[in-house]
Amino acid sequence: MAPDAAYRQPQPWWRSGTIYQIYPHSFADSNGDGLGDLAGILSHVGHLEWLGVDAVWLSPVYPSPQHDNGYDVSNYRDIDPRFGTLEDSDRLIEALHARGIRLIMDLVVNHTSNEHLWFVEACSSRDSPYRDWYIWRDPRPGMLGGEPGAEPTNWCSYFSQPAWTWHEPTQQYYLHLYAREQPDLNWQNTAVRDAVYELMTWWLGRGVDGFRMDVINLISKPDELVDGPLVAGTGFADPSPFVRFGPRLTEYLAEMHERVFAGRRPDLVRIGETPGLTVEQARHLTRSRECGLDMVFQFEHMEIDRAPGDRLAPVDLSIPRLRDNLARWQTALAHEGWNSLYGNNHDQPRLVSRFGDPSPEYWQTSAKAVALALYLLRGTASMYQGEEIGMVGATVRSPDDLRDIRSVNYLRAAAAKGLDEAVVLEALRRTARDNARTPVQWSTAPDAGFGSANPWMPVAEHPAAITVEAQRNDADSVMHFYRALIAMRHDQPVISDGVTRMLDTGPAPIMAYLRETEAETLLVVANLSSTVHSVPALLAQHLAAASAPLLQSGPRAGAELLAPWQAFAALIPSDAALADTARDTGEVLQ
Ligand code: GLC
Repeated sequence: MAPDAAYRQPQPWWRSGTIYQIYPHSFADSNGDGLGDLAGILSHVGHLEWLGVDAVWLSPVYPSPQHDNGYDVSNYRDIDPRFGTLEDSDRLIEALHARGIRLIMDLVVNHTSNEHLWFVEACSSRDSPYRDWYIWRDPRPGMLGGEPGAEPTNWCSYFSQPAWTWHEPTQQYYLHLYAREQPDLNWQNTAVRDAVYELMTWWLGRGVDGFRMDVINLISKPDELVDGPLVAGTGFADPSPFVRFGPRLTEYLAEMHERVFAGRRPDLVRIGETPGLTVEQARHLTRSRECGLDMVFQFEHMEIDRAPGDRLAPVDLSIPRLRDNLARWQTALAHEGWNSLYGNNHDQPRLVSRFGDPSPEYWQTSAKAVALALYLLRGTASMYQGEEIGMVGATVRSPDDLRDIRSVNYLRAAAAKGLDEAVVLEALRRTARDNARTPVQWSTAPDAGFGSANPWMPVAEHPAAITVEAQRNDADSVMHFYRALIAMRHDQPVISDGVTRMLDTGPAPIMAYLRETEAETLLVVANLSSTVHSVPALLAQHLAAASAPLLQSGPRAGAELLAPWQAFAALIPSDAALADTARDTGEVLQ
């Protein structure tokens, strides 16, 4: 159906767009040193153009001691020599722009590296002008600094260590919500904020098209830092309730908008990575440009198959729970605010291994079905390198195969608690961030075409079909499917503009929804399981009215059955009566 020009509002590019995340360590290695680099990315811009993505989000390439793979920045205005030079980044921006692709830099300013000169200065003396750029506290009253329990609060960092580290030379603790090599900046200090706004402006001056702001909702800390309730079995408290929407967060983001973005081209995008944010808070931060964020990157749907309070402890995935959670966010941000749609990234296991079925029989159809169900919702699609070929998780045989500081610390903390290493390792096989960090599989060469004989992480075990080279020549491949999906997001205004009406498919692992504008209705149906399911009666009604699918995975629908991982999207007549019937019969979840 042709777009209804009268109905359409001018939309920012990201509403119908797709962002492709590049994790530079593992994308492509141009010089054979085992680590990906900017020249490696440059050599594959043609692939990104072929896919049709709108923008690249580049994970950090700044100088860094790499304790957290670049999320510990020691200089914001340069490129780590391991990845290349500033001139290489200029060349990359130019090459992407020449293909109509934007570049979004990762902005990591909740914390710096402990090797950043600001922190080095801050540590030099209590009188240093940089001292107050970080968050320092005395030991707990009556205790000696450095002894167990003397930390100013009982907070645990997100990497399984106390959130405070004792600095012996100056006799105070500093706060770090992540590793001890990642001290938190003190955003209450205007000099810190000025420095951040200046470095952002500096990158915009080099031509970047926006920022993905790392854990940006954590930047505002309360004046008074106090103990929290202990998390059972840990001896520590979770700092999140105190820091995930701090008292001055909205003020800082509005100020950032004023100081960095106001008056600049409106297509510069601000994506806030926001763990732990509620729907109301997300709406509040994204409801207008002046609020400072164009979209959030929230985590709730990533916690459906995790034990409460422990993101590395798996529980069984429930598709109805996932569906209900996605529906809740769709409804809450239907008229105000904007969300990212994602199923994996450098911090989350691979989409097909987690939400699909990586067995040879269903690997291909399940990768497609999950993508279709996810990316036709309302929001900006944010995909991760290798997802377009259905890459599966890392091969973790022993603890030595884990590289990520979070996995390593988690395993160590579990051992200290006397837990069985084999059991914890089994959990990490499913949940570890390492899973998504293996080199991209470009070809059937011995190193999968990554470019080094000994990559920093071993290539995941995979069948020959999971390479870019193989799928480029196979019109039925996952990669061609992603290309069609990305194009469809551009071509069908109902995907960016429509409201979402999740259909009630009961306890079945089926996700079915309508996307509706006044002009059009799109029906999306996905059987997210490896078993056959009967079509719920109310869904059958919509199916009967559907046109030929615009996109589909697996065989065509039988009249009454959905095959394993069968998924499709089709336009149906915008028939108010049909929608009303659905509403009356309680079909609508939200
Ligand atoms: C974000 C990043 C993650 C990093 C953390 C601390 O969640 O995505 O990789 O470890 O922030 O910077």
